[in-house]
Formats: sequence, structure tokens, C-alpha cells
Amino acid sequence: MNIVICSDYAELSAKAADILEAALKEKPNLVIGFPTGGTPVGFYEEIVKRQLDLSQATAFNLDEYIGLAADHDQSYHYYMRHHLYNHVKIGKWYVPDGTAADPAAEGERYEALIKEAGGIDLMFLGIGTNGHIGFNEPGSSFAGRTQKTPLAEATIEANARFFASKADVPTEAISMGIGTITDAKRIVLLASGPTKAAIMKATIEGPVTEEVPASVLQRHPDVTFILDKAAAAELSNE
Ligand code: GLP
Repeated sequence: MNIVICSDYAELSAKAADILEAALKEKPNLVIGFPTGGTPVGFYEEIVKRQLDLSQATAFNLDEYIGLAADHDQSYHYYMRHHLYNHVKIGKWYVPDGTAADPAAEGERYEALIKEAGGIDLMFLGIGTNGHIGFNEPGSSFAGRTQKTPLAEATIEANARFFASKADVPTEAISMGIGTITDAKRIVLLASGPTKAAIMKATIEGPVTEEVPASVLQRHPDVTFILDKAAAAELSNE
């Protein structure tokens, strides 16, 4: 487990881009996992600023809201085009289809696409204040695969800031499962700001438990946590 503590958000974003840049140099046809949320926005800005060459890479997003079409401005399809794919050359990119009539079949299709691509080499993650990764809320199985999942009340509240009102936040998503995520060869989790301090302590120093989904990462052979000072504030050695 590597822990990188940055002085601020700009440094955190640059560190994440450094990791991607180095990995692309080594393997131009890298298979990448990308998150959404507020935290990775600076990372995506950095990729665009550096014009990293993703032309041979394949990218899979972690999740998508159920019920939002690709052109909805709060869909993760839209988010990824807006922050990244409209601005860099990318080989192939995928986001689960939140409008699929059969979410279970969509989950299986997504898993098959990841398998066909050779599995995820480098998975970037954010984290919810309740420890969720992707949309795997507390209590999710560590063995889970891409599937439909209900959003926790805390997540609906946290994400309401992106919607006109809380009532507009979808209540379900389709997300890579924790099993899908931990199959990635390398994982990099980004956490920024004081609202993440308590959950980062639980994630890194607490027991490995399905009640804190991100704690599963303690068992992964190649995980890096990149935190800014505020998110690292409750760690024992800080
Ligand atoms: C969302 C996403 C997660 C993300 C989390 C944290 O709910 N599904 O993948 O990590 O929120 O978001 P933020 O970075 O805005 O705190």
C-alpha cells in the first residue's frame, strides 16, 4: 500500500497524471478505469493540458446513473466527454448504459468488454464519504461484478449538489462491482478535502469490512492512495 500525501489539490491532480503518463509510456495500449465526481476533475484537466496520448488506450468508466441518457448533462457519459474525451485523442471508451432495458444483461455485456480488452491495467478511483467506490455502497459484496445497485441516502445527498434538486438525483446506478474493481492490476485512489478525512482513516487504518467498501483495497497488491493534506488529516502518522 503506497500513500502519497500532497500539499494541495493541484499537486494531487498532477501526481495522478504523472502515474498515467508513465504507464502510457510503458504501455500505449493501456486499459484504464476512470471515475467521476468532483475529485478527478483536476486530474482530467491535467491530462488535457499535457495532451497525453490515449489514442491506443481503452477506458472503462466505473459507473452510470440508471435512467440518465448519454446526453443528459448529469450523466457520466456527458461528464467524461465534457471533461476528457472531447479534448484528447482516445482509442476506445466505454461507460455503462444507464438506459439499458435489462441492467443485468448490460452488466454482463460490460464485464465481457473488460475481459475482451484484457482486463484493467490501471484503475483510478474516487471515494464517497461513506467509503463507496464506484457506486458500491456500504454492505456491497467484495465479490460483486458490474450490476445495478441502489444509491445510499448519503450518496444521494452528496450528489444533489450537481442536480437542480435532491429529488432529481437518480436512486440507482449501474456500477462495476468491487470484484471487478479489485481485479485491476493497479489501483490509484484520489481523495481530497476535509470531508474525506474520516473515511480515509477508516479505509487505510480500519478493519477490512464490507461496511467500508474501500477498505478492501488494503488487500490489493498494488494500490496507491493519493491524498491532499486535508484528506490525510486523521491518519495516524500525520
Ligand atoms: C460518486 C461516484 C464515485 C465518486 C464519488 C465521490 O458518487 N460514483 O465514483 O468517487 O461520488 O465524489 P466526489 O469526488 O465528488 O467527492
